[in-house]
Amino acid sequence: MIDRRTVLASTFALAACDRFASAEPAPVAIPPLKSACPAPFGAAVKAYLLDDPDWVALARTQVSQLTPEWEMKMEYVLADGLKRPNFDRSDRIAAFAAANGMALHGHALIWYAQGEQAFAGLSGAAFDRAFDGYIASVAGRYRGRARGWDVVNEPILDDGSGLRDCHWSARYGHDGYILRAFEKAREADPEAVLFLNEYNQESIPAKGAQFLRLVERLLKAGCPLTGLGLQSHLWIDVEEGAIARLMGEVAGFGLPLHVSELDCTLRTDKRLDLRSQSERIARQTARVTELAAAFAALPEAQRYAFTVWGLRDTDSWYRQGEKDDGKDKPLPFDSFGRPNPMAAALVQGFGA
Ligand code: XIL
Repeated sequence: MIDRRTVLASTFALAACDRFASAEPAPVAIPPLKSACPAPFGAAVKAYLLDDPDWVALARTQVSQLTPEWEMKMEYVLADGLKRPNFDRSDRIAAFAAANGMALHGHALIWYAQGEQAFAGLSGAAFDRAFDGYIASVAGRYRGRARGWDVVNEPILDDGSGLRDCHWSARYGHDGYILRAFEKAREADPEAVLFLNEYNQESIPAKGAQFLRLVERLLKAGCPLTGLGLQSHLWIDVEEGAIARLMGEVAGFGLPLHVSELDCTLRTDKRLDLRSQSERIARQTARVTELAAAFAALPEAQRYAFTVWGLRDTDSWYRQGEKDDGKDKPLPFDSFGRPNPMAAALVQGFGA
């Protein structure tokens, strides 16, 4: 029985969710993104979303590939230590993808930001066994199910001046840990496309240049690197043309490219930024169209997939916890699953 209190509560909840709706543009009609995109169209997902019927319906309509946003990372898998890896949620996501005819992209095996705690106290051969064993067990578990893996995530310093120091580089050297990770991933899964995944290549020229140099060096060293990931966490002030230029340079290696984590926050770090929401959205959609068009212009064999870092604004990592300003719109769908202008910008860029 629905009583009056429930009706009032849900009306209030709806109004609360929608408190910025009047400032928002009207929803736009679009074809499903998975049919507009000239490659698999992916989305990041956390396992709790599989229990949200609205998310499931939206994903089934729009998406043909999934990337676990968090639960396939070392931080989650090794939360209880090296001896007790936990695959419950990544298995659930993999099963959901298979049951719904969606591909699976593995994210991420080795990342400077994770694993320090689980590996603390290990040195020498014990460290090597744990490093190699982790990659073997995770990539091996999803062999034949994950079509690709982000083998190494974000190795480059934010200012592009070099590679990050981390617990992995301390043992194997800056290029050394990357080479070792790729070799172990290749042993664990001979078929998967193996990616180096990085962000801000388009917006920080020194970082883009460092990425190109690193890829060149790795390939020269015989690294089984077979895919390049452009995370594409964009912001609205990325210079016009920079996204397409960078993609052209990266495509020069001839490897498959993955737009692996697209979102575009409307926030800026300028202290006094008086631009209206609609001005910000206009800048956002222009950059997103540029990205989608540059991707669509790649040769078919180089279009691995195009992935958004969440479907609905409210699912975005920008909209979690205290940092949530309640009005950022970094993703293609609004909190009700209705297409945002960003969705139309994608369709336009794909040329669909
Ligand atoms: C973020 C997730 O979105 C968050 O939910 C998580 O808490 C931290 O990681 N680059 C990456 C992603 O490669 O793994 C990050 O994802 C976003 C930046």
